[in-house]
Amino acid sequence: MWKVQLYKTNYDEREYEAALRALKSGWHTMGQETIGFEAAFADYLGKHNAGDSEKTNLKCLAVANGTAALHMALLACGVGQGDEVITPALTFIADQNTVSFCGAKNVLADITSLDDLTMSPAEIEKQISPATKAIMIVHYAGFACDMDSITALCKKHKLYLIEDCAHTPGATYKSSDGSEKHLGTFGDIAAFSFFANKNLAMGEGGGLVTSNDALYTKLLHLRSHGMSQASFDRFKGRASSYDVLEPGLNYRIDEMRTAIGLVQLNKLDAANAERAEVAKHYYNRLDTLAASGKITIPFRHYKRGRPNHHIMPIILNEQIERSAVIEAMKEDGIQTSIHYPAVQGFSAYKGRVNDTAKAQFVCTHELTLPLYAGMQAGDVDMVCDSLGKAIKTI
Ligand SMILES: Cc1ncc(COP(=O)(O)O)c(C=O)c1O
Repeated sequence: MWKVQLYKTNYDEREYEAALRALKSGWHTMGQETIGFEAAFADYLGKHNAGDSEKTNLKCLAVANGTAALHMALLACGVGQGDEVITPALTFIADQNTVSFCGAKNVLADITSLDDLTMSPAEIEKQISPATKAIMIVHYAGFACDMDSITALCKKHKLYLIEDCAHTPGATYKSSDGSEKHLGTFGDIAAFSFFANKNLAMGEGGGLVTSNDALYTKLLHLRSHGMSQASFDRFKGRASSYDVLEPGLNYRIDEMRTAIGLVQLNKLDAANAERAEVAKHYYNRLDTLAASGKITIPFRHYKRGRPNHHIMPIILNEQIERSAVIEAMKEDGIQTSIHYPAVQGFSAYKGRVNDTAKAQFVCTHELTLPLYAGMQAGDVDMVCDSLGKAIKTI
């Protein structure tokens, strides 16, 4: 139906074979495939740059999805009733929902500007109160937050830092001292989503990353009923019984997904490089529209490391009616999206969260254009022609 889809997975025979291998293996949950994926992902993130083999104490746990990962991260940090968590004003609602599920209060921090849609460290600091337990950040669209400032804030106020890394696989942050590290290695815990539209896609899936051994143990218990032994260990004859050490959940993942994940991980850097090429072509095509003041291109002159171009957001100026642009582009067969509607507008959160003027403006005017690994220059041209035409005629 669409001439240009919002995203496409880059699966081929390698993913199909991996899923089939896991299916045929006779063991379908949290076994060898999952152990292999976890080790490889932690190893990948621990490498500060491609080719750098420096090892860290990073550990990864694969889980059912990104929301489960965020929920577990908050629980592991002891977030509960009476606590406040500072969450991004421009993000997917899973951030706020998981805080709510822990019985804690969401306090939103605004973005920096229309050019930099990540959370403003100054706005975060303004929201810190004696009840603040943790700061949850999101590296929107795969562009890093200002991690020098945010890690300093967490240290100064003794707060947990949870990175929502749903958008980040493969993206890095360059510190002011020149060092460069993968996103997901700055917080006490990072939560990844491997949902179908993500840079590393399993259909559904998630991951947790930490270098803190005590938090890792807590997460391990939370993932599977607080049990002392995994069922795979019992299957392998390494244990015959188990204890329940603390209350836990079932946020496990299956072998078919982690087998796909390992293939995706091996393709990640090349796929992200393809995304960067697509973004470059978009920038070339959209700069004229931006110069005329019709749109803003966020992160156009971004310098905080290597983004992974998870999505391609633009911001329409306030005279342009977004819904009309979406309709006109749909007529041309171009699928677009919105990242994200305002938290303040959802029934569940109306009147329960603070206003954040800049993020709310973006929530009303942002438009996400198609972007995926392997997208052709001709497709980008089709999107930009359609956008230009829509803006001119509205
Ligand atoms: C920023 C952000 N956080 C959290 C999530 C939740 O991940 P999942 O859909 O895997 O539960 C998503 C997924 O879309 C996301 O984009």
